[in-house]
Amino acid sequence: MNVIVFASRKGGSGKSTLAAHLAAHVHKTSKPCLLIDADPQGSLSLWQKLRGTNEPPIRVASRSVSELVAAAKRNGFEWVFIDTPPNVSAVVDDAISNATMVVIPARPGVFDVNAVQETISSCRSARKPYAVVINGAPALRNDQESPIVTMAREALAKFRAPVWGGQVTNRADLLLALAHGEGAREYNPDGRAAGEIGRLWSAIERSIKAIRGTASSTGAMHKQAA
Ligand SMILES: Nc1ncnc2c1ncn2[C@@H]1O[C@H](COP(=O)(O)OP(=O)(O)OP(=O)(O)O)[C@@H](O)[C@H]1O
Ligand SMILES: [Mg+2]
Repeated sequence: MNVIVFASRKGGSGKSTLAAHLAAHVHKTSKPCLLIDADPQGSLSLWQKLRGTNEPPIRVASRSVSELVAAAKRNGFEWVFIDTPPNVSAVVDDAISNATMVVIPARPGVFDVNAVQETISSCRSARKPYAVVINGAPALRNDQESPIVTMAREALAKFRAPVWGGQVTNRADLLLALAHGEGAREYNPDGRAAGEIGRLWSAIERSIKAIRGTASSTGAMHKQAA
C-alpha cells in the first residue's frame, strides 16, 4: 500500500484539487484508492458526495490518521490519498509520518513559493520523500513556460527542493469537473487538464516505484532539483 499526502501550509495551493483529480484518475475496483479527509473544511468529502457513487471511498480523520491508514492496509487498499489542512499541526505531522511520498502543491507566486519552506522542513525532519508540484500556473505559450513559473523554479532551487518538471495549469475544466464531482478525465477525457493530471500521476507512480526500490530513482520527481 502506498500513501500519498497532499500538504502545504498555504491555503488554496491546490491540495484538495490535486487529491480529488488524481483519486478519480487512479481509483479502480482492482486497485482501490482510499481518500482520507484530514481537513475540517471537508473539501474532499464534499467532492466525494457530489460524485454520488460512494467511490472512491472516503474516511474523515476526526482523530488519528495513523489508525485510518492501518485499517486501510488491513482492508487491502492499493493507494491512500490524504488531504490535509493549510497549517503546520499535529494532524499534518501525523499524515506526513504515514506518507510514502508527500506532494506539496504551490502556486507560482513569490509568497506561495516562500510558504512551502515549512512543509519541506516537516518532510525533511520526518525523512519522507516529497516533491513540489507547481499548480495554477499560466498556460504554456509556444511550449514555453511562463516567466512566473521559471522564477518559482529558481526560488525553489534555492531551498534545494525537488520539483516536478511539469505543471498543472490554471484551467476552468479542473474547477468544472470538481463541481460535477468528477475528475478531469471523466469530465473531458481529451482535454488538456486530463493530460496534465495523467502526466502528474505518471511522475508520482515513477517516484513511488523508485522509493519502493523497484525502479531507478534517476529523474524521479522526488529527486529532481528545480
Ligand atoms: N489548476 C487549477 N486550475 C483552476 N482552479 C484551481 C486549480 N487549482 C486549484 N484551483 C481552485 O483554487 C481553489 C483552491 O484550491 P484547493 O481548494 O484545491 O486548495 P487547497 O490547498 O486544498 O486549499 P486549503 O488549504 O484551503 O484546503 C479551489 O477553488 C480550486 O478549485
Ligand atoms: Mg483543501
